[in-house]
Amino acid sequence: MPHPPVATCSTIAEVRLAVASARGEGRSIGLVPTMGALHDGHLRLIEEARAASGFVVASIFVNPAQFGPSEDFRGYPRTIDADLDVCARGGADLVFAPDPEEIYPRSTVATFVEVPGLAGKLEGASRPGHFRGVATVVLKLFGIVGPDLAYFGAKDYQQQLVIRQMVADLDVPVAIRTVPTVREPDGLAMSSRNRYLGPDHRRAARVLSAALNEAIRAVEGGERDADSVRQILRRTLESEPLVDLDYAEVADAETLDPARSVGPGRPTVALLAARVGPARLIDNAMLPG
Ligand code: PAJ
Repeated sequence: MPHPPVATCSTIAEVRLAVASARGEGRSIGLVPTMGALHDGHLRLIEEARAASGFVVASIFVNPAQFGPSEDFRGYPRTIDADLDVCARGGADLVFAPDPEEIYPRSTVATFVEVPGLAGKLEGASRPGHFRGVATVVLKLFGIVGPDLAYFGAKDYQQQLVIRQMVADLDVPVAIRTVPTVREPDGLAMSSRNRYLGPDHRRAARVLSAALNEAIRAVEGGERDADSVRQILRRTLESEPLVDLDYAEVADAETLDPARSVGPGRPTVALLAARVGPARLIDNAMLPG
């Protein structure tokens, strides 16, 4: 069954009008922030929002503020027609796809959101300024849309923690929902950046989820030492010559501080980042408790 096209808008005024009208009808508002190049992971977020909210807004905005100077902002895949189809399939009511000038109209924008602590670790250490850009644009989207519920993927584990911290600290009246990572049949976490991979790198990229599965199996088998689990992650990743490891960490699932032990007790998460040819990929998995 073809889906009717989804309504779109590109200005803050339009999205506010549409949301006010939905609210006037007593509908609750769900927001799914994205940067486009949508895949089944994004689709799942939209579907979850659809199931829980009366009016679903998906935003598509490649946010310049979260890319470093040598990162892939310019080359980031932009596939708006296909994206609108995904939004329609997921049941979104409105797609907000602003131009950069709509979000950052003045070169003198002076306010940014910093989440020190959480945002300085792991991804934040590898990508200085990244989470400041993410937190700032997400807070702006919350201010523009005013959602009751907002959806984020567990695929970007640290990102959803940063956003939860920001919302708690700044009393933003929105509930954050985290949706499990959607994977390809061979285990690779879906990502817009997987499009960068040629066949050899695509094959090699399977080692990320394979390493996480090895770590889970070790903990299931009784391993309790976090360093041993780090070694398992590292060894598995290093077995693939096309993969260049950035970090392989086992961390407290709330603070992201390095864990000393795994298994029963405080929940822990394994987090990976690696360059695979032209793509920098991340993945993570909760370790068994
Ligand atoms: P983007 O990478 O487009 O991801 C949008 C949302 O989809 C994020 O919450 C991300 O965690 C989620 N997502 C991506 N891949 C997923 C997968 N395989 N399974 C489940 N969810 C997945 O993350 C961003 O954009 C930006 O940083 C943003 C939050 C939009 C701010 O600019």
